[in-house]
Amino acid sequence: MEIKIFLGLRHIIFGFKRFDMDIKGKVAYITGGTKGIGYGVAQSLLQMGMKVAISGRNQDAVGKAVERLGNKGSVLGITSNVTNFQNEVTAVNKIIDTWGKLDVVLANAGVGHFAPVDQMEVEDWNQMVQTNLTGAFYTLKAAMEALKASKGYYMTLASLAGTNFFASGAGYNATKFGVVGFTQAAMLDLRKYGIKVTTIMPGSVATYFNGNEPSEKDAWKIQPEDIGKLVIDLLLMHPRTLPSKIEVRPTRPDLK
Ligand SMILES: NC(=O)c1ccc[n+]([C@@H]2O[C@H](COP(=O)([O-])OP(=O)(O)OC[C@H]3O[C@@H](n4cnc5c(N)ncnc54)[C@H](OP(=O)(O)O)[C@@H]3O)[C@@H](O)[C@H]2O)c1
Repeated sequence: MEIKIFLGLRHIIFGFKRFDMDIKGKVAYITGGTKGIGYGVAQSLLQMGMKVAISGRNQDAVGKAVERLGNKGSVLGITSNVTNFQNEVTAVNKIIDTWGKLDVVLANAGVGHFAPVDQMEVEDWNQMVQTNLTGAFYTLKAAMEALKASKGYYMTLASLAGTNFFASGAGYNATKFGVVGFTQAAMLDLRKYGIKVTTIMPGSVATYFNGNEPSEKDAWKIQPEDIGKLVIDLLLMHPRTLPSKIEVRPTRPDLK
């Protein structure tokens, strides 16, 4: 609601300035959208009338996910490995070529390898650091100019493992603590451009993560569409307000 009273050349504004509650037509890029959380968020954003690009490392998996999502004309599948900066530049260019802008970026692609630190394999460590941490930076760097132009939104999918460490989590914890620190510092750097930045830190989500097959046994966990609803709530938040770091957990872990 906006009420203006004109007093000669001056006017007073009462109440709340109106803002755009409609996210229909906005363009999102979700890294790692072939399954799990990224796929669930893509479904939620499409239901809101957004256009969504999803990525993954494997062309076949990307194609199948695009087919399952339906919504022809509103979905773009991109084969891109977030550990390769040039791949991410090409991905963003493809989105701009297709839809002319980029409003929302969710750096979601991630992997987990869990082992006591004395048994941690070098390849597993490197894959986690390059995907979970460096990948989030590459995606942001590739999308930077587009996000400045749209005064857009950059989100990272971190984890409660980015604030709670646990045995056998040394590598994963290191990357997720890193992602939380990276995202919060980026938030301080980018808000002056009108870019919102948030890190989402879920507990257990029912996905394919670390070889899991989602089933009835995962009913107690957060579901991917719940993260989708959270992302929509963030996008609909008033421009003056920024929830910059969100911890989200299953309500009833005792049911596991
Ligand atoms: N599940 C949980 O309990 C949980 C909790 C907190 C945080 N998270 C975080 O949530 C994010 C999504 O995980 P998820 O649970 O949805 O796992 P998921 O079901 O295994 O999905 C992971 C997604 O990431 C993609 N991906 C992996 N490496 C990639 C790379 N280098 N480049 C591009 N895409 C890549 C995979 O696509 P392809 O395999 O097709 O390449 C897939 O689409 C991760 O960052 C994870 O750490 C998960």
